[in-house]
Amino acid sequence: MEKMWAGRAAKGPEQIADEFNSSIRFDSRMYPQDIQGSLAHAAMLTKQGILSAEDQQAIAEGLGGILADLDSGKLAIDPTAEDIHMFVEAELTARIGDAGRRLHTARSRNDQVAVDLRLYLRQEVDQLAELLRQLIAAVTGQAEANVDTILPGYTHLQRAQPVTFAHHLLAYAMMFMRDIGRLQDAAARMNESPLGSCALAGTTYDTDREFTALQLGFARPCFNSMDGVSDRDFCVELLAALSLVMVHLSRFAEEIVLWSSWEFKFVELDDGYTTGSSIMPQKKNPDMAELVRGKTGRVYGDLVAMLTVLKGLPLAYNKDMQEDKEAVFDAVDTVKDCLGIFAPMVATMTVKKENMLSAAQKGFINATDLADYLVKKGMPFRTAYKITGQLVALCIAKDTVLEQLPLADYQSFSPLFEEDLYQAIDLKTCVEKRASQGGPAQASVLAQLAYVKEFLK
Ligand code: ARG
Repeated sequence: MEKMWAGRAAKGPEQIADEFNSSIRFDSRMYPQDIQGSLAHAAMLTKQGILSAEDQQAIAEGLGGILADLDSGKLAIDPTAEDIHMFVEAELTARIGDAGRRLHTARSRNDQVAVDLRLYLRQEVDQLAELLRQLIAAVTGQAEANVDTILPGYTHLQRAQPVTFAHHLLAYAMMFMRDIGRLQDAAARMNESPLGSCALAGTTYDTDREFTALQLGFARPCFNSMDGVSDRDFCVELLAALSLVMVHLSRFAEEIVLWSSWEFKFVELDDGYTTGSSIMPQKKNPDMAELVRGKTGRVYGDLVAMLTVLKGLPLAYNKDMQEDKEAVFDAVDTVKDCLGIFAPMVATMTVKKENMLSAAQKGFINATDLADYLVKKGMPFRTAYKITGQLVALCIAKDTVLEQLPLADYQSFSPLFEEDLYQAIDLKTCVEKRASQGGPAQASVLAQLAYVKEFLK
């Protein structure tokens, strides 16, 4: 096919160069946005008296037909086309003749690709936010069923202090809520129209960029035409927000892998979200969680690739920027897949409450509470801390736990110990007493749940 830009050069590119240059295999997914942008552009040209009403009508009908035929599969994307913009324009011209050749007046592929990408990503952000909502709903559902489920909270992966499973899960709900906020922030800054920036220096035609911006649902046109065609920070911001989504998913995935191991046995994944082993008949593997953890790296890679493409590029457009799309599309697709699998995996997992409780009963996670008991009776915290440490050592030597150690042993360390110490170190008491804002006590967790549910409304 002859290039639209044929004219200057004595011959077209070599086939190998043509193939190297083409972006059609990854940018064809933007055909609806490309057509949407062209429709707005043609309407603006006509309103401004640059294009005749007849031409606009032919363009609108032609583009409408192309959209319908691509949607239905009647028209196939030509894999030898240079990119989606050239493909649509060539198809339009084949269908309507000269009117198609007039569409590109006062426009460049540089503002065209920038507008297409913003439109495409804006819509993806809405889907990503919805998937995050569904995940938060799944997490919240499990949290509601586990307000009283005591398990050890860990630091350094060592049993630390008692919390509830609801408290633990709601920590993730908070992260995912912030993720939605970050995506929305990125979408708001993305929502400016580069259309009309043309190649880089605007145009001598009397165009109306406010009009096209509004038609396409943008908040405003971007203010500087060189910025309009060379800015890809909207891609970087989105990739950074998506990288953080993956950080959160990956930490959660790691916990699910740990919790579903025989060492922990805190949860059991539904069979539908696990796989077996080809050799070991007993295996039930948490592949979905592992894959989410594994895919985190490629999303970070996409972010670093995008940053690196932009670094050192002189203004304005450079062909390097064609590399933006594969990175950002890969990240968006990957995160959507991960969120899509995570929500039902979390919603269907079985929580082994007894195992969580029995883990909480070992590991001296009420030692801080025992020290606090002495402090409330007047002992300085450091002294209480030391005595409690010695009591823990005694329990380990006697192969027992603080709850079972006789009162006489306690009293040999301090006369402040009385029968009520056993009540103070009961795990239920330890959780309920942690009623500081944001803590695991029931009232606090219910308040957190209410906050998340309000957000989900
Ligand atoms: N396929 C190109 C891209 O993705 C479209 C813009 C081409 N612009 C140009 N001046 N060659 O960046």
